[in-house]
Amino acid sequence: MPKHSVLLAASAIVFALAQGVGAQEMTYGQAEFLNSCAVCHGTSGEGDGPLADELVKRPTDLTRLAEKNGGEFPYFRVFATIDGRFVVPGHGERDMPVWGRQFLEEDAITFGPSGGEIVTEERIHQLAGYIESLQK
Ligand code: HEC
Repeated sequence: MPKHSVLLAASAIVFALAQGVGAQEMTYGQAEFLNSCAVCHGTSGEGDGPLADELVKRPTDLTRLAEKNGGEFPYFRVFATIDGRFVVPGHGERDMPVWGRQFLEEDAITFGPSGGEIVTEERIHQLAGYIESLQK
């Protein structure tokens, strides 16, 4: 498949993802959050998921990120933390999976390395946007 059609296929999927999941009134970001993040961060994002007590560090309360950042949601920090591939090591052990790597492994199977990277980044954007919508 020529490169641009891979990209087109990738953006079609991203668009479908962004449209939400089936007939439910759920965005892609929310569905992915419940699927991948709620075990630790809790279904409401407050850091009280069933796995929370097993971890060395408590999962962050994701509903107060703007409050703790002077009222401004730290979008790019959140994006980079979820992605995890470009975070400088040396700030202690990370209890969170490196989602950028994990998503790309799945997405590259379907879309190839460059198409997969686009889909992976879009998935992280959807998650960051969903977390932004949880701010108190
Ligand atoms: C295995 C448990 C676990 C899972 C699953 C998990 N997290 Fe986390 N997360 C943590 C912990 C623990 C922290 C606290 C910081 C650390 O580990 O350095 C954290 C921190 C964060 C932060 C940093 C907040 C800040 O201060 O900027 C964000 C954003 C975040 N998680 C988003 C997510 C998203 C989105 C998902 C799902 C794709 C997810 N997490 C899945 C355990 C988890």
